[in-house]
Amino acid sequence: MSILVTGGAGFIGGNFVLDWLAHSDEPVINLDKLTYAGNLLTLQPLAGDARHHFVHGDIADGELLRRLLQQHRPRAVLNFAAESHVDRSIHGPDDFIATNIVGSYRLLETVRDYWQQLPPAEQAAFRLLQVSTDEVYGSLTPDAPAFSEQHRYQPSSPYAASKAAADQLTHAWHHTYGLPVLTSHCSNNYGPYQFPEKLIPLVLHNALADRPLPLYGDGQQVRDWLYVADHCAALRCVLAHGRPGEHYNVGGNCQLSNLEVVHTLCALLDELRPGAAPYARLIRFVADRPGHDRRYAIDAGKLQRELGWQPAESFASGIRKTVQWYLANADWVQSVTSGSYLDWTRRQYGAH
Ligand code: NAD
Ligand code: DAU
Repeated sequence: MSILVTGGAGFIGGNFVLDWLAHSDEPVINLDKLTYAGNLLTLQPLAGDARHHFVHGDIADGELLRRLLQQHRPRAVLNFAAESHVDRSIHGPDDFIATNIVGSYRLLETVRDYWQQLPPAEQAAFRLLQVSTDEVYGSLTPDAPAFSEQHRYQPSSPYAASKAAADQLTHAWHHTYGLPVLTSHCSNNYGPYQFPEKLIPLVLHNALADRPLPLYGDGQQVRDWLYVADHCAALRCVLAHGRPGEHYNVGGNCQLSNLEVVHTLCALLDELRPGAAPYARLIRFVADRPGHDRRYAIDAGKLQRELGWQPAESFASGIRKTVQWYLANADWVQSVTSGSYLDWTRRQYGAH
């Protein structure tokens, strides 16, 4: 038996593959296009490990997918592959449509074809897990209840809209063809191996280089934060026990404003890597993200009640581990912040 993971050289997919093989000997076929966000260094701990089979390719390549499915006959497919950065989707949505919508469609069709040819027992046991996001639900007002799985889809950004489209296709493939799919909606992840375009690693990277820490608008936007290992555990749980056709919210029960997050990071750096002056002096309020969602909050009660999952890390413990990881892994950060990264930061933040 084996599983096929797409996007397994990215932040969450990479953490998932490492986590999976730390908990199980079931092989992983890891299909990743290695965009700017994919990094084989993340998978270096698995060098020479016969349980990990990396394939460089695109989820929109139906022929490649067909070959991989026939060759490895996985019992499950987990789709992490995506363009994932909201700001990039605002600058240029093309890749988001190509991967998140067309790629997901191609994956669904190829998997459906494979699944329909499986013997009945394997067909019944097969699962496709679509890794979605809480952003498909849109933005909450300050006092509104957290998103439940019943919340209507109201995506705001091109990124969120492309993920919502993929979810709708996934739902339709279940409803129409009976494909046994599961959909997860997680809140903001943080932890090791996150590309420094996202808030937490960007702030750590800039602070250590004595560069400004950019906060969009008034910095009062609220996100729910979850340590990435807890997301991986939730996905293992949904894959093992989730009911086909169901959606599961995943969250850290931890709503914080961006300003609070950045102050927490500055305080940890002051303690663990003290500079000449407090890091918070580098905070700068910059132009807001167009269409910026004000607040996300996630009700993960269904996952806890039905499948028994809850996060192991608090924000205090998870963020400390994260800062320690970035301080100890300057090589990894260095390897992902060369050429094209500099082009992106210049375009998004101007020259510092
Ligand atoms: P990421 O950008 O770090 O990684 C994405 C990976 O997908 C990269 O390795 C990239 O090379 C690969 N990829 C991109 N296009 C591909 C294609 N066409 N074919 C094959 N591989 C391709 O993203 P992430 O933060 O790890 O997010 C992973 C998934 O989780 C995404 O689907 C995202 O929508 C979802 N998600 C992310 C968060 C978060 O906080 N980061 C929260 C909830 C859900
Ligand atoms: O909620 C889940 C989503 O979380 C995932 O689906 C996305 O893939 C993931 O990128 C993340 O989206 P966000 O837009 O919330 O993450 P980001 O780290 O880009 O931004 C977090 C918050 O910080 C958001 O309110 C924007 C703000 N921000 C971000 C950056 C990069 C800043 O204020 N300054 C910045 O420079």
